[in-house]
Formats: sequence, structure tokens, C-alpha cells
Amino acid sequence: MKTIPALPEALPRLLKEWYEKNARDLPWRHDREPYHIWLSEIMLQQTRVEAVKGYYTRFLESCPTIAALAEAPPELVQKLWEGLGYYSRVRNLQAAAQKIMAEHDGEFPKDYDAVRALPGIGPYTAGAIMSIAYDAPTPAVDGNVLRVLTRLLAWDASISQEKTKRAAEAALKEIYPPEAGMFTQSLMELGATVCLPNGEPKCSECPLKALCRAGQEGTWQQYPVKERKKDRRIEDRTVLVLRCDGHQAVRKRPKKGLLADLWEYPNVEGTLSAAEALTLAEQWGCEPASLTMQLDRVHIFTHVQWNLRCYYIECRKMTPEFTWASAQMLKSEIALPTAFRMFFLE
Ligand code: ADE
Ligand code: SF4
Repeated sequence: MKTIPALPEALPRLLKEWYEKNARDLPWRHDREPYHIWLSEIMLQQTRVEAVKGYYTRFLESCPTIAALAEAPPELVQKLWEGLGYYSRVRNLQAAAQKIMAEHDGEFPKDYDAVRALPGIGPYTAGAIMSIAYDAPTPAVDGNVLRVLTRLLAWDASISQEKTKRAAEAALKEIYPPEAGMFTQSLMELGATVCLPNGEPKCSECPLKALCRAGQEGTWQQYPVKERKKDRRIEDRTVLVLRCDGHQAVRKRPKKGLLADLWEYPNVEGTLSAAEALTLAEQWGCEPASLTMQLDRVHIFTHVQWNLRCYYIECRKMTPEFTWASAQMLKSEIALPTAFRMFFLE
């Protein structure tokens, strides 16, 4: 059945009763300030709740208002995001804050189309913000919600297709209750805590079990239907942690592409031998004295896997083509994404 069956009208009521007793206490559920909801939804894109909590609180301590975010130095904002991944999110966030200052007098817009026009806000995020902050009847359909709906209805459309999301949004619109924010969050919450993504869903605890086809029929494993993921490209790289007199060499990445405009340890394509790494440090003019350690790590992005070999090399010269940062600077000022941060040693 590729077209979506109608959703049960009892859904909002059942989810509300369940949500009021079972919702997790999360920092972004303490108020409905649109800036807070917006920030949390951006952070939660592709990122687990547990990982987001600390970042959310720290971000708001540094940038408590849209105006503060708009005016903050980009380096500071990047640093606040360090380790969360998908760094274009934070560039868009600041660009959107600046647009809100310029075009909306610093007030987060209340109109769906104006929200959608902000950098970094797609249909999912716009729907989430509008419903959670303003109780607008705008669905927010993410992977959690699609998992619940496809199982509930034994709906076998591929969730890799945009039209499946659009159909789910349309079906939800039909039954949106006045407490829209609660409905949006209860769907997400059920998907995150009961109708689990990995492993067996907790159907016996689920408020929808009496209505749920996959739950009743024991066919939850068949839903959601996905297309095979595109393969990840594999790249071997060698990272050099060049150390000199308590400083480490870092440089800015290109302004476009993977990890754009963030910092990195110098690195090159391929897996170099220790001798080749020393030769390279020599060519870079760092006057390497000794190679002290090797670490091999894998870092996975959405479309690329990096197989990383890292060499730690003591040097005698701080060549000017790198920035030579102290451990303190690396900790407090320089945004080093996780792929490189994992090699950081004081
Ligand atoms: N995932 C996306 N948005 C969320 C929210 N508001 N609460 C919990 N998990 C989420
Ligand atoms: Fe998911 Fe089971 Fe609830 Fe159905 S009954 S929505 S499969 S947890």
C-alpha cells in the first residue's frame, strides 16, 4: 500500500495522555521562546538528544539572544559548535540571526513562509518551530515520526523518498489538534523512546498498541521501508601533529566542502610510512627531530569515511605557513572538528 491510509482520529488524544506522563525533561522543553526552540531543532538535526543537551545550554549562555548571536564573532560561534558535526548548521544559524535583525527587527518571525526563508530551515524544522513555539498546525516529519507512522499503518512506502514525507505531512495536517506543539513533540518522543530505531520497539508500553498494525501483527521489522543507502567513499589520509616548544601546527581548511572553514592538523591523502611523514615535515620546513607516536583511527561522515593515520612529530622550527597554537588556545579558541580533535594531546 504505497498511498498513506488515513490516520486514526484518536491519535492526538492517545499521544497527549502518554506524553504528559512520559516526556523526558529536556532543557529546550522548559520554555517556548522561539529562539530556544529554533536552536534546539537545529542542534537536534542528525544529532542525538544526549549529545545536544550540554551544547544547547552552553550555546545559550554565550549567545542568550538572537541579537547576541548575530553579533558574536564567527570563531566563537564555531567553537560553541565544536564536536557537534554538520558545521554548515552553525554558519546558517548565525546568518539567519543576522537576517532576523535586518528584516524582522530582531524578532523571530511568526509566519511559516518567513521562517522557511531563513538559512538552514527546511520543511521539517519550520514545521517543528511553528508548532512547538506557536501551536501552529504544521507537521514536522523526521525519521522518528516516519517510523511511528509507517508501523502504525503498515505503510510500505519508501521513507527515502521526499514524496513519502510530503504524504505523511498531509495526513498529519488532517488531524492536528489545538495543542499542536505537544502533538509534534509527542510523535517525536514516541519514536525516540518507545518505537525505537534500533532493536525491538517497546510495543507493550506503547499508547498506540491497540491501533498499531505492525505492533498487532508483529511485523515491525518490515517498517520503515528504506532504499539501500548510497555507499560511502573511503579515503585514506595521514595527519601530522607537529609539535614545537609546547605549540602544535594547525591551519584553516578551505572555505568550501567538507568541514569548510574549520581548523585542522596538517594532513595529506594516502597512508604515509613514518619515514615519509618525517620527509614531509622536513619539506614543510619544520625541522623534525623525532617521531614519537602513531595512532590509527576511523572517522565516519555521511558520504565519506576517513581512515586516518596520525603521526606525532617533535619539531625545531615553527614555519609561518601554519598557525602554531598552544594547548590552551586549542582548547579555548580554535574549533577543531572531531576528526582532528581526537588526536589532540596536551
Ligand atoms: N528531535 C528533534 N526535535 C526534538 C525535540 N524537540 N525533542 C526531542 N527530540 C527531538
Ligand atoms: Fe511502534 Fe509498537 Fe507502538 Fe506500533 S505498537 S507504534 S510498532 S512501539
